[in-house]
Amino acid sequence: MGRVLVVNGPNLNLLGSREKDYYGTKTLEEINEEVSKYASSHNIEVDFFQSNHEGEIIDRIHFARGKYDIIIINPGAYTHYSIAIRDAIRAIEIPVIEVHLSNIYDREEFRSKSVVAPACCGQISGFGSNSYLVAMEAARLIMKK
Ligand code: DQA
Repeated sequence: MGRVLVVNGPNLNLLGSREKDYYGTKTLEEINEEVSKYASSHNIEVDFFQSNHEGEIIDRIHFARGKYDIIIINPGAYTHYSIAIRDAIRAIEIPVIEVHLSNIYDREEFRSKSVVAPACCGQISGFGSNSYLVAMEAARLIMKK
């Protein structure tokens, strides 16, 4: 049994209706439901957190210490400029996996730089909602070690 926290950043609460060409038609609730099913079939406990506020995301990362084995995070636009989220990840001992629905390397130039990724153990980008399931599989393999 492992414990995973899935954190979603700004505007991801609008998935399903937001820029569907990039992010698809599933809502965040539907994606979380798929992640929950994956988790329960692999004996993993999973919690979800979404916020549009940088400080709240940082508080949740701090709060995760001692409570979770892995964090999966889609920092949204904070990916590209939040040194504070990067520092929060560096400050905790928990492995963090960065996730993106879209391929951030195939979009505007400013999206091809993640300031958060160097603090993470890895990054998954471009598989749509399946990026979260790929991240769950990575989390499962890391926890099995
Ligand atoms: C995103 C990519 C970011 O560039 C963007 O700001 C998002 C979503 C993704 O999941 O593809 O909000 O993180």
